[in-house]
Amino acid sequence: MKKHKIMQVLSKKIYKEKFVELFLENDLTPFPRPGQFLHILTGGAFIRRPLSIAGCTENSVRILFEIKGKGTKKLSEISKGQYLDIVGPVGNNFPLPDRKKEISLVAGGMGLAPLLFLASQLISEKMNFKFFYGARDKGHLLDFLLPKGDYKKFISTDDGSDGEKLTVVEMFERKLNNEKTDIVFAAGPYQMLKALSEICRNNNIEAYVSLENIMFCGLGVCQGCVTETINGYKRVCRDGPVFDHREIKWT
Ligand SMILES: Cc1cc2nc3c(=O)[nH]c(=O)nc-3n(C[C@H](O)[C@H](O)[C@H](O)COP(=O)(O)OP(=O)(O)OC[C@H]3O[C@@H](n4cnc5c(N)ncnc54)[C@H](O)[C@@H]3O)c2cc1C
Ligand code: FES
Repeated sequence: MKKHKIMQVLSKKIYKEKFVELFLENDLTPFPRPGQFLHILTGGAFIRRPLSIAGCTENSVRILFEIKGKGTKKLSEISKGQYLDIVGPVGNNFPLPDRKKEISLVAGGMGLAPLLFLASQLISEKMNFKFFYGARDKGHLLDFLLPKGDYKKFISTDDGSDGEKLTVVEMFERKLNNEKTDIVFAAGPYQMLKALSEICRNNNIEAYVSLENIMFCGLGVCQGCVTETINGYKRVCRDGPVFDHREIKWT
């Protein structure tokens, strides 16, 4: 199936000066699933940049990113009506959970993006879940983007400038007694996912994490994105980005 596409920008919003939301025309096949990402030529860099799919309808695909370096800076300068060179959808997806399970989504920082897509899917499937979301500080918190719906939201910031003054992992652990969880879907920085994995292991909770390793080819060829697992080295772009947390050899 041809995954290389030229897709038009339908709309663009900038939040808090450094976060950009783009809606692109949806020319993707097959229809994307939560956890998958797009590999985008940004114009600012020769190598494509991986960005999670933050939402998808028949007509549009949503991405949400933080301006970090030259690639995302250049991408932030694109305007409505212009076109992007995209490979996607790439990678695997979060497995759709059994609806009898107590589901928790745990997002740290820009790990929010893939979990927005998953939350929308769970809402449309009429499944219950809890959403734990933490950011460094108020200036990095995008909780207003959480989809509307009848689910519990728990918000934290590391410095306490909004929500609870905890990391998202600390908040998740503290709530475990009252907020039963059978299965976790998580995305965010490596150290956050590592800490969360330990808590899930200690509490016998099933968990799937989305890794954000630096990528080059995004095609499973260069081995530049590998992570060590109990089953040998795996390519995050092709075998992931979503892994069962017990599979990863955390460093
Ligand atoms: C599967 C996947 C999904 C992602 N989804 C999102 C998302 O939805 N929203 C979002 O804001 N970010 C996401 N990222 C991270 C995003 O790809 C990087 O922030 C981006 O590539 C940085 O490019 P740059 O040219 O702006 O920065 P650079 O100038 O290349 O580097 C700036 C900083 O970003 C880090 N970085 C560079 N390339 C990557 C990379 N490929 N992956 C991770 N970190 C990198 C560098 O170590 C450096 O600290 C995702 C990463 C992966 C692997
Ligand atoms: S980025 Fe080349 S194998 Fe994953």
